[in-house]
Amino acid sequence: MTDHMIESTLSELERYYDTVPRVGGARAEDFGALTLFVQEGAGWPYYARPALGGPEATPADVQRVLERQRELKAPEAFEWVAETSPSLRTAVEAAGLHVHAHPLMVLDPSAEALPPHPDVRLLGADDPLLTAAVTVPALAFAAPGTAVGEAGPAELAAATAQPSAEEGRARVAGKLAAGTSAMAAAVRDGVVLCSGMYNPVGDVAEVVGVGTLPSARRQGLALGVTAALVAEALARGARTVFLSAGDEDVARVYARIGFRRVATALIAEPQG
Ligand SMILES: CC(C)(COP(=O)(O)OP(=O)(O)OC[C@H]1O[C@@H](n2cnc3c(N)ncnc32)[C@H](O)[C@@H]1OP(=O)(O)O)[C@@H](O)C(=O)NCCC(=O)NCCS
Repeated sequence: MTDHMIESTLSELERYYDTVPRVGGARAEDFGALTLFVQEGAGWPYYARPALGGPEATPADVQRVLERQRELKAPEAFEWVAETSPSLRTAVEAAGLHVHAHPLMVLDPSAEALPPHPDVRLLGADDPLLTAAVTVPALAFAAPGTAVGEAGPAELAAATAQPSAEEGRARVAGKLAAGTSAMAAAVRDGVVLCSGMYNPVGDVAEVVGVGTLPSARRQGLALGVTAALVAEALARGARTVFLSAGDEDVARVYARIGFRRVATALIAEPQG
């Protein structure tokens, strides 16, 4: 990708990031250089981010937003792209927050599609495996990194029996039915081993929540699930497909599908 393509893609991503919380049910509070998104119903508890087209935020702007987040008992969280808002990191760190960096990757338009994985399929809103598919990433993210681990189908069965699993199913089913998300899963012997989603807004789609049960890692399942999500997003008209990888090891998996690192996504939250 040329520098010009990367620059115009980063502008496109700013518009995407500004739109997603609004369509996800959040209220936007205007703090000049920053916009605070506040979840109004059940759903993702959002964060503050640079206002679209706004000036660079100062430490005083960050303080004002933090005070409001505390007042609302909302997460003290900020998310942004390092290269697009270069001075925000210093302002946020001055406020005592801890910043995590994640490779921001965009699908190379010239990347060749991988062949479909035999165990991977898309899931609709009524799929009987949807509860398990929504629960797998929770177990996966509880064991970060790419190494094989202990938790497997037995732990998944126990987790899907929890009331919170049904809440997660209902929330995701609504999004799948509305077409605001799509989900793919790798299923073997009726057990979901890996799943992931993408969220389209216009012709931009973000791949999110890809996770593999720790016991089923390093078999190519995340590769297969992500490739299926990419194929579906492109078939449904996406021109830009992107994601934030957890770390460099995870980024390597996505690079095999044709995702290229274009920038760094930053997330700030309180220490610990
Ligand atoms: C990141 C994650 C989704 C990867 O899932 P996975 O199904 O193990 O991914 P894959 O099997 O496609 O690839 C992982 C590794 O296994 C290797 N692998 C794939 N098939 C293999 C096989 N048959 N034999 C041996 N190794 C294999 C891949 O080459 C890759 O190796 P690398 O680490 O050297 O690059 C998983 O580790 C996870 O859930 N981690 C925690 C949550 C998380 O960080 N999610 C990503 C958010 S962006």
